[in-house]
Amino acid sequence: MLRKTVLLLALVDQVLVLENGLLRTPPMGWLAWERFRCNTDCHEDPKNCISERLFMEMADRLAQDGWRDLGYTYLNIDDCWIGGRDDKGHLVPDPKRFPRGIAFLADYAHSLGLQLGIYEDLGNFTCMGYPGTTLDKVFQDAQTFAEWKVDMLKLDGCFSTSEEKAKGYPMMAAALNATGRPIAFSCSWPAYEGGLPPEVNYSLLTDICNLWRNYDDIQDSWSSVLSVLDWFVDHQDILQPVAGPGHWNDPDMLLIGNFGLSFEQARAQMALWTVLAAPLFMSTDLRTISAQNVDILQNPLMIKINQDPLGIQGRRILKEKSHIEVFLRPLASETCALVFFSRRTDMPYRFRSSLAQLNFTSSSVYEAQDVYTGNVISGLRAETNFTVVINPSGVVMWYLYPVKKLETSQQ
Ligand code: GLA
Repeated sequence: MLRKTVLLLALVDQVLVLENGLLRTPPMGWLAWERFRCNTDCHEDPKNCISERLFMEMADRLAQDGWRDLGYTYLNIDDCWIGGRDDKGHLVPDPKRFPRGIAFLADYAHSLGLQLGIYEDLGNFTCMGYPGTTLDKVFQDAQTFAEWKVDMLKLDGCFSTSEEKAKGYPMMAAALNATGRPIAFSCSWPAYEGGLPPEVNYSLLTDICNLWRNYDDIQDSWSSVLSVLDWFVDHQDILQPVAGPGHWNDPDMLLIGNFGLSFEQARAQMALWTVLAAPLFMSTDLRTISAQNVDILQNPLMIKINQDPLGIQGRRILKEKSHIEVFLRPLASETCALVFFSRRTDMPYRFRSSLAQLNFTSSSVYEAQDVYTGNVISGLRAETNFTVVINPSGVVMWYLYPVKKLETSQQ
């Protein structure tokens, strides 16, 4: 009897679970929204309006400027692409701004070794008022996206009730499965329900979505980065365990390259998002981004840490009265990443610590590579005192790896 029940449950599970095998590491790419919003004025602003041209130009940059080869492969459309529905109810893109259609853009992306993401909204309208996916349209729209050869769907949650979302998100996961095309599924559902249990069921989300927005939209300012970070840290006991290969918390896009962050703050967002095992979606103009910002986003060690195969989300492990905080992310092969983060606003702060103070009990000798400068600090034992100099609203980030096991004298 028990065996039968288990079998039955396993079968039910198979139907509900998103079985696409995708995003074993956090997705990386480019997403239009934060920088380009709902600019539809192609007459006045042809270079920056939401249009085929914008996505093709970003695709060219992703392919030609080293992004794709580092892993930034997703080219993701956000709101404001929809023109309406045809007489059979199929979604159609705005004919003026996307004259060759979405299948054409997907082919273009694929020809460059990229993947195309699209946006819809479970509800009567998208957040900007374009036609949404109502419950009766879920299967049809999933089929349309698959026919266009789309690779990721961000399904937003404006203009629907909690009940509709509770039906619609699992239904879309099933509909995407049913297309037979692997389509990564980004769910905004938790962000609309406060992001926390009991309203949000993270074990269900883990089964049906590859990533999910937990919290408010990021805006182009440091205060916005801090508000997102604070929320994630305040709730890390709930959020940290639910992330893993194939299912990620999404604190929203990277602002790097835009207008609101200083150099130190840009480095800080990159380091913090990386220890949080966050998706790395840039939302900036890749045609004009500065070399300094490219360096932050294209740091190979940073990307290796973000893409660590264990997929363990990091945590804040220390909060000092001095307004210094330390984050730790465990990585494969007994390595880890440490981020020393300063919330100070005065001057570079000399933070003195030791691995023992950061709860390392290991009997190893470690070496640390500074992720931004490349400097190597060697001979670190648990009790070794060290000093890191952290700039205001900046970080020092270490990649820490054991180099030698010590004899344990006590036992
Ligand atoms: C919501 C989402 C944003 C963006 C806009 C588009 O606010 O959270 O990320 O997709 O809608 O209208």
